[in-house]
Amino acid sequence: MSNLIIAGGSRLSGIIEVPGAKNAVLPVLAATLLNNGTSILENCPELDDVLTMLEILSALGCKTKKKGSRIEVDASNLTSSCIPEVLAKRMRSSIIILGAVLARCGEVLVSYPGGCEIGMRPIDMHLRALEQMGAEVDGLKHGMLKVSAAKLQGCEVLLDYPSVGATENIMLAACFAEGETLIRNAAKEPEIEDLQNYLNQMGVKVTGAGTGVIRIQGIREIKAEPIHTIIPDRIVAGTYLAAVAATGGSLVVTGVEYDHIGSILYCLRRTGCKIKNYSGGVVTLESDGRLNALDLIRTSPYPGFPTDMQPQIVSLLTKSAGTSVVVETVFENRFRYTEQLQKLGADISIQGRTAIIRGVDKLKGASVEARDLRGGAALIIAGLVAEGETNISGVGYIDRGYEKVENVLSKVGAKIRRVED
Ligand code: EPZ
Repeated sequence: MSNLIIAGGSRLSGIIEVPGAKNAVLPVLAATLLNNGTSILENCPELDDVLTMLEILSALGCKTKKKGSRIEVDASNLTSSCIPEVLAKRMRSSIIILGAVLARCGEVLVSYPGGCEIGMRPIDMHLRALEQMGAEVDGLKHGMLKVSAAKLQGCEVLLDYPSVGATENIMLAACFAEGETLIRNAAKEPEIEDLQNYLNQMGVKVTGAGTGVIRIQGIREIKAEPIHTIIPDRIVAGTYLAAVAATGGSLVVTGVEYDHIGSILYCLRRTGCKIKNYSGGVVTLESDGRLNALDLIRTSPYPGFPTDMQPQIVSLLTKSAGTSVVVETVFENRFRYTEQLQKLGADISIQGRTAIIRGVDKLKGASVEARDLRGGAALIIAGLVAEGETNISGVGYIDRGYEKVENVLSKVGAKIRRVED
């Protein structure tokens, strides 16, 4: 694993172009498995999770090609329905392949994804819905899971919670199911809409993404040559905007969807940042670095404040004037990174799913450890603000969701470098 060394205290300013969304490209790559042809995806982010997904597709028999942000996947000749355990373990979200492989091959063998730093992350909703569609789920020994179905049946599914992954898995499984599948209480994230658009480009009939009720009309086969452009990454955009809000300075982000980051911008405005939205996907932020505390932020499913921005906003609030309260309603254990923020001098107390952040005058550089993707991003923001040098280990977690983070931040004035340990 490499480390990031940050000399904090600089104001940042400049332009950042937002890459394609990790949480959009992963389900779309899973969906390429449905296509008995070649899919071309543009604006794909260069991330470790994308490389892992391409390794999984190749292990299933796909021919994949990656050239910069363009990816080609030829899934016309699948040779396996077993997702290699070593790859599935490397990326928890490999479970979103389940529905696509089951629909295309009639069975799938995958290792049960373990929990991670932010929670248990069970897949009961995924499996219950697939069983409702006629699949047989066999929890084999040694943590392997076998799901099989000669022909899935379209049906009405009601999710207990608008799970992003469960919604995506059911959408994929429903593409070749008999008749119509209706998902009630579906996730409304923009990444769901991007998946719907890609499936419709392949000739499947999917409607309702973003409304909470999604309908998928099953078809017999997909033989298409779609060219699909991945939507911008709203969490990467929010992360860099939060970083400049915290350090003070001015940032122009380009290639962003304003509506996708509306709740993030709302919170940053409440801290006192000046934010403007221009046509053509340009948003600007000005900050003097002296931020207001926020009496209450609660994370919730889209279009609420995203859980994937919770660590970054907590980090930003560690130096705000006053006491802030952040409630994490989506994952049961997503405050572990605050132990690392406390090493930098942050004053945070955790009570269950609530974090109470008392603003301090300054943070002081220290050695800290990233243990998950967004917690790692929070440590970068704190390091950029702290006086002195901060050494962040576990940068592999951060590379899963942020393209060349030290290059992007150096270009806007941050004193940050990567060292291999
Ligand atoms: C997706 O994870 C994202 N990952 C996560 O982003 C994001 O935090 C999450 O959605 C919520 O927005 C990808 O898209 C690859 P969920 P997912 O199913 O699908 C519980 C990041 O940092 N649940 O919406 O796994 C679950 O435990 C990552 O980019 C069940 O109980 O999230 C959680 O508490 C982190 N049973 C809640 O629902 C189930 O069967 C929301 O999970 C499924 C989920």
